[in-house]
Amino acid sequence: MRHLFSTIFLLSLFCATATAQRADYDVIPLPKLVKVDSARVFNLQQGATVAFDANNPEIYRIAQFLCEWVGETSGVGLTLAPNDKKAVVCLSLDYPAADDAAELTEQQKEAYILKVDKRGIKIIAREPVGLFRAAQTLRKSLPVVKGGAQSIELPFVEIRDEPRFLYRGVLLDCGRHYFSVDFIKKFLDVMALHGSNQFHWHLTEDQGWRFEVKAYPQLAVKGSVRAQTVIGPGNSGIYDGVPYGGYYTQDECREIVRYAAERYINVVPEIDLPGHMQSALHVFPHLGCKGGSYPVRTYWGVSREVLCGGNPETLTFLKTVLGELCDVFPSKFIHIGGDECPKNRWRECAKCQAKIKELGLKDDGRHSPENQLQSYINREVEAFVKERGRDIIGWDEILEGGLSGGSIIMSWRGVKGGIAAARQGHRVIMSPNVYSYIDHPQLKDYGKQPRTTDSYLVSASKVYSFEPLIPDSLTVEQQKLILGPQVNLWTEHVAYPEHAFYQLLPRLGAASEVQWCLPAQKDFEEFKKRLPRLKKIYDLMGVTYCRQIE
Ligand code: ACM
Ligand code: ZN
Repeated sequence: MRHLFSTIFLLSLFCATATAQRADYDVIPLPKLVKVDSARVFNLQQGATVAFDANNPEIYRIAQFLCEWVGETSGVGLTLAPNDKKAVVCLSLDYPAADDAAELTEQQKEAYILKVDKRGIKIIAREPVGLFRAAQTLRKSLPVVKGGAQSIELPFVEIRDEPRFLYRGVLLDCGRHYFSVDFIKKFLDVMALHGSNQFHWHLTEDQGWRFEVKAYPQLAVKGSVRAQTVIGPGNSGIYDGVPYGGYYTQDECREIVRYAAERYINVVPEIDLPGHMQSALHVFPHLGCKGGSYPVRTYWGVSREVLCGGNPETLTFLKTVLGELCDVFPSKFIHIGGDECPKNRWRECAKCQAKIKELGLKDDGRHSPENQLQSYINREVEAFVKERGRDIIGWDEILEGGLSGGSIIMSWRGVKGGIAAARQGHRVIMSPNVYSYIDHPQLKDYGKQPRTTDSYLVSASKVYSFEPLIPDSLTVEQQKLILGPQVNLWTEHVAYPEHAFYQLLPRLGAASEVQWCLPAQKDFEEFKKRLPRLKKIYDLMGVTYCRQIE
């Protein structure tokens, strides 16, 4: 009999511990301030109510996201209860007013407070975006319960959070390989999970033009298709013999913009000019210096075939494309590329040389006339997009011909370009290849991962170690010009969704702490301890990731 009682006692103890699922706030990226009282817990139970302002459709949508995520992660189903003052979870915009009347920074607009006490869960923000960030933090704080829990214990806590940088970017190269609209939506979901807020959409390449331009119907139809693709990294010389293509209609682009905006992500479109344009030259060969025929490129590397800098039709073409781009993408930032534009053709081309003469461009010891010709094109397109209220971003090569005032430099060849630009008073996005090019391998043993561009290792710890403000090289005033960091997923060797997510994750987790957290909060060993639960959310979302971390 005694034996039976002790068995029942042990069994009930087991059941109690099995059902008592507990949240903690060890999330990625780590919030700015987390004050936990682990001795006391609030029990979030099935059917708990969520209150929000019923007159605000934006907050309604966030409340729906919150219910969806809490249900998906823990199994606890919440009930929407608009304006219910006694609800268990309350979303509101009653953020305490700041003491001074200074204008809020973009980061302060994203601030939120998440409080758990005996009354329940209170989320307060200044703007809906803050509620969204808080809902993500709550989602990531919950245990992932297979089969679902009846209730979750949440330790009492007060979280106060806001991001470190206003620009927290991720690039996806859809030029080398096309990714479906559904894939991009999932990519945006994953970005939002990590608090990233700028989707840099690389839309055109030598190997494919992916953006529909209504004025030039053939541009995307013909320019998006290459005859075949070289196999394996390093331009093996062996081709698959299979035509490859795909482009995004303007309606699809608008749908991506809408979907991203609901997740508080801005879409920064890039038309890479005047280099990386061989797919456009395929459709409009008269825009090249040589004329003749140009195939959409079937292999990787930098092409010498670029838009002619001396042909006035080049600027007409670019303005037509950028005009439609601005109509489709509301982004304040328009990326004009500018990288890797060899000047071989321009040096030999009568039209380019005549234009250099007309503009009076001379080698001034720092900038060649051809580099200055590229700057002339940049200034023309910058003025054009400025009329539409936008700022241009360019890769750091655009510094080489001299730069005009409003341009933003994206530093990719290390941090040198970013430092030089900030010292000249330009705004900067830091995306140095050795820390940020996540098309590169993430494990030392290259044989353990799918083959990619493999000239150097970009481990998660390397990504994590980046400090975007470069305090040794920039004054405090210059550091204020650094808008934030970005990681880049180039896709020469990444053709499938599973591979793309494998390259992205968990390195985006590491990058998210560079983007969101203060340097004093960062600790890679601690980060690794917080990673397992995030990986369970990756599993729930059905995305692949690298299981090892170095
Ligand atoms: C670049 O990687 N060419 C920007
Ligand atoms: Zn030319």
